[in-house]
Amino acid sequence: MLVLGIESSCDETGLALYDTERGLLAHALHSQIALHAEYGGVVPELASRDHIRYMVPLARQVIAHAGCQLADIDGIAYTSGPGLAGALLVGSAFAHALAVALNLPILGVHHLEGHLLSPLLSANPPDFPFVALLVSGGHTQLMDVQGIGEYVLLGDTLDDAAGEAFDKTAQLLGLDYPGGAALSALAQQGDLQRFSLPRPLLHSGDLNFSFSGLKTAVLNLVRKHPDTASRADIAAAFQAAMCDVLVAKSLSALKQQRRSQLVVAGGVGANQPLRQALTREVTQRKGCVYFPELQFCTDNGAMIAFAGAMRLLHTREPAGPFSVKPRWALNSLPALR
Ligand code: KG4
Ligand code: ZN
Repeated sequence: MLVLGIESSCDETGLALYDTERGLLAHALHSQIALHAEYGGVVPELASRDHIRYMVPLARQVIAHAGCQLADIDGIAYTSGPGLAGALLVGSAFAHALAVALNLPILGVHHLEGHLLSPLLSANPPDFPFVALLVSGGHTQLMDVQGIGEYVLLGDTLDDAAGEAFDKTAQLLGLDYPGGAALSALAQQGDLQRFSLPRPLLHSGDLNFSFSGLKTAVLNLVRKHPDTASRADIAAAFQAAMCDVLVAKSLSALKQQRRSQLVVAGGVGANQPLRQALTREVTQRKGCVYFPELQFCTDNGAMIAFAGAMRLLHTREPAGPFSVKPRWALNSLPALR
């Protein structure tokens, strides 16, 4: 089954073709980072307009790269939520129009399910069950995953998401939006011993997170040490605090659920010190940790095509309403079994 995946929930237009027998055939991505950079964050109306601009050219591009025709497509999967309403509507409108024109089955995919299943696109995918750490710009969640659609929320952030904390801290350090990767690069030149920042909720006894206090602690440090030379040291201290909390809570989740496999997904999963610390700590405990390929950590069409293909194989429901779900709980999805 050949599925066209369409991602347009925020500031990336992603299209991909996934074949359930041959794997990922092609994917294309247009990032709007440059478009939003001067505003310090995503401007929803600009995002929607840019998705409109790139949707058709990227669809043509993946079809050409895969060496196939529109008529070869067996189903369409698009991100129907959560995300920015206007941006989601562009993908939804395009997907529904194609599905009607080609008389194809169509499915609205949950963006976080796309992230969650993205490590399954790798050469060495994990088996169910596993614990998943979802760390994106909008979410920080620990999930117990027994199968597709069988998600139990173990812990969540009480305030900022991990990516949001990276981005806000990066902004305090004078870096452009979205600053996660830039902050990490800056931290590499920093002295890890110079500053120590709090590890919020490290010993809370549950699996929840809180990052807004950490951001305030960074703000205080920046005010106290406004010189450029201190920025790298502050970035290093912030990244170390984030990694410590994310690693400790992930290990607690594995222990609590008696699982040995950890799957990491979402943009912050591209963070190298986090990847290294999780790999070291989980393997020391005889477990295994799985990451998506770097290019599939942040938003992309491949993860939507894949998640959509898994569900379209089992679901033969009518198209459903032409609507999007800007807010949508991951653990409300139906199980595939
Ligand atoms: O998953 P994603 O593309 O978007 C959402 O669905 O929210 O994640 C984007 C987030 C941004 O906050 C970005 O700064 C962060 O992932 N990010 C990173 C790195 N690369 C991207 N954070 C830390 N280190 C990185 N290397
Ligand atoms: Zn995302």
